[in-house]
Amino acid sequence: MEVIETTSRLAEVLDGPRRSGKTIGLVPTMGALHAGHKSLVDRARRECDIVVVSVFVNPTQFNNPEDLRTYPRTEEADCALLEAAGVDYAFVPTVEEVYPEPDTRVFDLGSVAEVMEGAMRPGHFNGVAQIVSKLFAMTQPTRAYFGEKDFQQIAVIRRMVELEGFDIEIVDCPIKREDDGLALSSRNVRLTPEGRAIAPEIHRTLAKSPAMKESGMTPAEVKAEVIRMIDANDGLKTEYFEIADALTMQPISRWEDAGKHGAVGCVTVFCGDVRLIDNIKY
Ligand code: PAF
Repeated sequence: MEVIETTSRLAEVLDGPRRSGKTIGLVPTMGALHAGHKSLVDRARRECDIVVVSVFVNPTQFNNPEDLRTYPRTEEADCALLEAAGVDYAFVPTVEEVYPEPDTRVFDLGSVAEVMEGAMRPGHFNGVAQIVSKLFAMTQPTRAYFGEKDFQQIAVIRRMVELEGFDIEIVDCPIKREDDGLALSSRNVRLTPEGRAIAPEIHRTLAKSPAMKESGMTPAEVKAEVIRMIDANDGLKTEYFEIADALTMQPISRWEDAGKHGAVGCVTVFCGDVRLIDNIKY
């Protein structure tokens, strides 16, 4: 595996394979890699001739400076994991390399980016669109792999791809969980022992919600019950739980209002000062 720091070197190594018709898989990450990222890398490895993994903590998507400052950075361990996973290129640029000039682009992401994470974290999705569009332009992958833990992010990236006219297949990959159900996240390392013990209640509660739907409860009733159950745990505080159409991300008030992609319940919960997200499909 070659560790690449510049866009010019990245273009140089990918030019030959691209010309000879090889498929290129890109896995964009912010590092602090765990088994969830590894599952994306493994899938890219199975499906593509060349695998590129970017490791870049993108400042433009952090609306909270403290979150950016405390975001875990484990570059050496990340490179070791990627090397062992058979990655061809780890792209590890500096902020100056990615943003030689401030990125002032504002993407017309529309309603998909206005709700849930978009409402709670102003500017976050525009920052995601900025970095992912840059990585797509730099790498020109055949396919790009994203984890469904950030369910709304995938919908936003699909919208950005449509806006920018990229010919790239977006591959969404299932959430990876600890044995006790906690969704794998780079932020989990910041949980206190008490937080780590209680955090699996988020998924345990979500997992009960399809049965609530089956029992005849409306989306509003399921929402209220899920929030009540999560918040009943000392140390957990729900920021939002929304039930939305899985394609448009717009909240639904009746189950029948979900389109052919079904509905998804998306939750954000504070566990101490660590903000955890998770979701469940209906
Ligand atoms: O999901 C993430 O880790 C980031 O939002 C991404 C897609 C790598 C962009 O920085």
